[in-house]
Amino acid sequence: MIDRTGLILDIFGERAVTREGALQVELAHLSYQQSRLVRSWTHLERQRGGFGFLGGPGETQIEADRRLIGERMVRLKRDLEQVRRTRGLHRGARRRVPFPVVALVGYTNAGKSTLFNALTGAELTARDQLFATLDPTMRGLRLPSGRHVILSDTVGFISELPTELVAAFRATLEEVAEADIILHVRDAAHPDTAAQRADVIAVLGRMVEEDALESNWPEHTIEVLNKADLLGGVAHVPGRNGAVAVSAMTGEGLDALKEAIDGRIAAGMEIADYEIAPADGARLAWLYRHGEVIGRQDGEEAIHVKVRLLPADRARFEQVRT
Ligand code: GTP
Repeated sequence: MIDRTGLILDIFGERAVTREGALQVELAHLSYQQSRLVRSWTHLERQRGGFGFLGGPGETQIEADRRLIGERMVRLKRDLEQVRRTRGLHRGARRRVPFPVVALVGYTNAGKSTLFNALTGAELTARDQLFATLDPTMRGLRLPSGRHVILSDTVGFISELPTELVAAFRATLEEVAEADIILHVRDAAHPDTAAQRADVIAVLGRMVEEDALESNWPEHTIEVLNKADLLGGVAHVPGRNGAVAVSAMTGEGLDALKEAIDGRIAAGMEIADYEIAPADGARLAWLYRHGEVIGRQDGEEAIHVKVRLLPADRARFEQVRT
């Protein structure tokens, strides 16, 4: 018999591309099996009517199973700890390549992976390959403004995700919490699209309560109404108020989506004025690479630069101010 939790675990298992994800799924699977064993064991005990028989063949088998599962779980937890430490290092590395992170979330089957591939294209640059080895669910994307962002694919959400699974997949959800922009991908052609939207917002909302999302919600979210082709094109998608309609399949609307991401990032940026010594070409180049230079006056003593920067980049720049 396969119940809902088992089914959800299978779905997560198929999508677990990272080593951490695979370990998490196996661990969740084992603890789920263990709870079912406990249940059938109690059931057997009840059948025996409490006659105090010990060491019956059924019981021995169950105890052996439980011990094996327990041992495997201990080993998995140790591996997971190791992977997490490595992952922490990788995350640190990613922060040093400070591009805004755009995370895709959405109900299962909404078209996240299709959109991820459509936006980033098939070919990988050398830099992308680095990210791909760190984490295959991340890829670089160049926006119309020339700005680089990192696009991050996540697991699909399922209605009423059991609490213990939310905990088990915390790392995946943390990925979302750390994102600068969240793309909420919806299947606009699905008859339950409104209910699916509410489910996803409920899961994300629960994270807000747990303080994981900090201030990122909801100003940093863009709703993407996908599968517009099934409704006769983006112009025919209902309820586009503030949302962007696209078809990941045909590519319609993808340029508008990239512009919307650009706009949202720019809206979160701060304008700063700096004076840079003419000899300090490296710092000037850094500003051009990470921000949008909107004004510049070259003087003898200093170059005055007016620049639009992400708050995080601004802090980073000012920290190393000389
Ligand atoms: P999970 O992995 O379950 O979270 O799904 P996902 O959100 O990554 O969806 P995925 O990209 O795998 O797409 C699900 C199905 O929808 C696939 O059969 C896609 O071919 C289809 N699909 C995705 N985008 C579009 C679209 O724009 N139009 C149409 N007609 N089908 C689409």
